[in-house]
Amino acid sequence: MASSTAPHLSSTMSLGNLTLRNRNIMSSLTRSRSFPDAVPNEYNVEYYTQRAKGGAGLILTEGTLVSQQGTEWPGACSNQRTDEWGGSPENRSKFGIEVTKALIDVWGPAQVGGKVNPCGGLRDMGMSYSDTIMTYTYFLTQISALKVAYITLIRHVHFLDPLIPGETELKRGTPHQVLALYGPVVKPLPHVLKAHSEEAYRGLAMPSSELGYLNPTPTRLSVNGGLTPREADQLIADGMIDGAVFESLWLVNPDYQKRLEKGMDIDGKGINQVLDFKTFYGVPGVDPRVGYTDYPTAT
Ligand SMILES: Cc1cc2nc3c(=O)[nH]c(=O)nc-3n(C[C@H](O)[C@H](O)[C@H](O)COP(=O)(O)O)c2cc1C
Repeated sequence: MASSTAPHLSSTMSLGNLTLRNRNIMSSLTRSRSFPDAVPNEYNVEYYTQRAKGGAGLILTEGTLVSQQGTEWPGACSNQRTDEWGGSPENRSKFGIEVTKALIDVWGPAQVGGKVNPCGGLRDMGMSYSDTIMTYTYFLTQISALKVAYITLIRHVHFLDPLIPGETELKRGTPHQVLALYGPVVKPLPHVLKAHSEEAYRGLAMPSSELGYLNPTPTRLSVNGGLTPREADQLIADGMIDGAVFESLWLVNPDYQKRLEKGMDIDGKGINQVLDFKTFYGVPGVDPRVGYTDYPTAT
């Protein structure tokens, strides 16, 4: 049998009170195939079944509409808040922290996680470099102290930082090294862990030890954004991250993890990387399976 392309990525991991069979996580991906009423249907079942059978360690599902109005985006640029929800890093962080606390009240910290995109850029989101660092350092410190199951950091991704309409060069995002800057807020650096046991260090670093009985596992750190399986594997081997989150590679390879376990790689073309933007989102009247459940398996 061929050896795995990514043995560390393929190793088991505890997360909250779950044991995942591997660290290869499928990213949250809204595909808009639930026609006509936004209620999940047999095509959605087939799509997620394919990826579960294809070896995903954890599948982060897509956005669900609370109401049809939820599809309309208010102009964020015109939304300069001056109340308690905007302005300072503390105020900007407040909404996310309050939502996380409300979720923890219902589900407990072991079943709550979050994803942040500090580089921004999408839908006119963006802050100065110093505001960005202050806001996300504050936010992630607070969220980690709540002992959530996981936090995913998105690196700068070009398609999440599009050109401002009408401009040829301007983008709203703030590209910076998210893993180097915020990683240690969530997960102590490996050389620190060597000197202290994880539990002892985290007890000192985060005011979370009293929540330990609600979540037996330290908050897991994952990263997303243009990762290759080999890079993800190395980051896990180095102790920089616990898990890796992939979007495009799961979108076009329903059996992505199984391909890795068979020794396939993106360089050898065993793993598909070709995306069809036209079929990202479903369109009423078009067969919902096209570009959704019709990607072939290779294992
Ligand atoms: C079609 C499409 C839909 C997406 N929907 C969501 C979503 O609902 N929620 C979310 O957090 N990210 C969403 N994303 C972003 C991805 O989860 C991911 O963060 C990003 O594409 C980078 O992943 P990659 O570099 O591994 O491909 C979406 C991306 C695409 C292409």
